[in-house]
Amino acid sequence: MFVTGIIGYPLKQTYSPLLHNTTFNALKINGIYYPMRVQPTDFGTIITSLKTLGFTGVNITNPYKKKVIKYLDAIDTRARSIGAVNTILIEKEKIIGFNTDFYGFEKSLLEHNIRIKNRTVLLIGAGGVSSACAYVLKDLQPRQVFIANRTIYKAKMAARLCEADVIGFEQIKKIIGFVDMVINATSVDLQNVIIPALKENCIYYDTNYWFKSMKRRGIFVVNGLSMLIHQAALSFSIWTRHKPPVAIMKVALKGGAKC
Ligand code: ATR
Repeated sequence: MFVTGIIGYPLKQTYSPLLHNTTFNALKINGIYYPMRVQPTDFGTIITSLKTLGFTGVNITNPYKKKVIKYLDAIDTRARSIGAVNTILIEKEKIIGFNTDFYGFEKSLLEHNIRIKNRTVLLIGAGGVSSACAYVLKDLQPRQVFIANRTIYKAKMAARLCEADVIGFEQIKKIIGFVDMVINATSVDLQNVIIPALKENCIYYDTNYWFKSMKRRGIFVVNGLSMLIHQAALSFSIWTRHKPPVAIMKVALKGGAKC
């Protein structure tokens, strides 16, 4: 049996149990995915107990994507470069870390037909999700990337991944009118402050998914559902060796409520 789940805190709303449990059922694979709200003081104990508890693997979410690295026996090279792990696999008594957020972001750009080449991009945020986006941007030949974050030293670390220019939040207004794409990789809603300042045909890509993708005031507003599905599908594949079940997960999301 595949025993999986997601560990985070406070783990408010997540579609992941719906996506994975629906997929186990649809594929008739004997498996289960648990949401696990783990307090920061218990995090280390829980991670090191996963082996004895018989887990196949888990997803790691806020605020643990960087913190988990010190508990791993091995880490995938891409996850190491990004500096964040959102998927772990327990194999032969070893805890192995992966990053599937970068894959989710890359696939979602293709799915939405978003081209980065020669475009000026503003990436807001400098956590694990932002680093995964920066890792993808580096290979897509943007004209220029700016990274803005509330805590500036974290932005410097993310900027190294894609040779970006770091700016403070207060400098966003100086560049916002000429960028071709904004990526919100923070956990806060920035739509109302950012979208009115964007030029026409700009893309506002939000890694969150509490709103619908749409065209708003001449701006293409894209949510993070495609990224969510593709990252989940790759995690599922890492645990079960089944090919990423993207189509099943898309259907699961259409029919389900948040859990
Ligand atoms: P994730 O792994 O999902 O990226 P994270 O590592 O906790 O999560 O990063 C969250 C991001 O949202 C960070 O860029 C964080 O900014 P700080 O680095 O300054 O903490 C950003 N963020 C969270 N709450 C914010 C707020 N109220 N205003 C601005 N940025 C915020």
